[in-house]
Amino acid sequence: MVLKKKPSDPWPTITGEYEVGNPESPVAVCTCGSHLHNADLIKAGAALAGPCKTENIGIEKMVANVISNPNIRFVLVTGMEVKGHITGQAVEAFTQSGIDKEGRIIGAKGAIPFIQNLTPEAIERWKNQVEAVMMLNTEDIGAIAGKVKELASKDPGALDVEPMAIEIK
Ligand code: LMR
Repeated sequence: MVLKKKPSDPWPTITGEYEVGNPESPVAVCTCGSHLHNADLIKAGAALAGPCKTENIGIEKMVANVISNPNIRFVLVTGMEVKGHITGQAVEAFTQSGIDKEGRIIGAKGAIPFIQNLTPEAIERWKNQVEAVMMLNTEDIGAIAGKVKELASKDPGALDVEPMAIEIK
């Protein structure tokens, strides 16, 4: 049995248009601009599954819900890319490079990739905790569910830290 940690109570910390599954699962699914049948992804073993449309507040809320649960180690970035915002690419860039002094996600190509509500500690936690797994521009629910199962089978266990609960204004 790999290490498991108790997430924040309550968890998820931020409300939104997602479905919640097993809090001990290592996989969260970000479906970008697509509204998929999230229940199928939960059934496949995801801890969280839902859209993330904006490359600013959307990413902030997702980060808050992930770093409050150290069991989540993979963020599967899938669904159709959001035109203009280019949110999926922004998640990948954010995970790799974080933000610059002005709060801009380094390397993000979208219109307004400015992070305003995350402390350097929260960003560092995200980068240490999760790997962004890119599977953009598909809505094939069977293939996405298959990827959730594959990632769940590679569970490295929780990051050995306490959950970080943050507020998004
Ligand atoms: C998003 O990017 O998906 C968010 O703006 C949605 C929300 O809950 O604010």
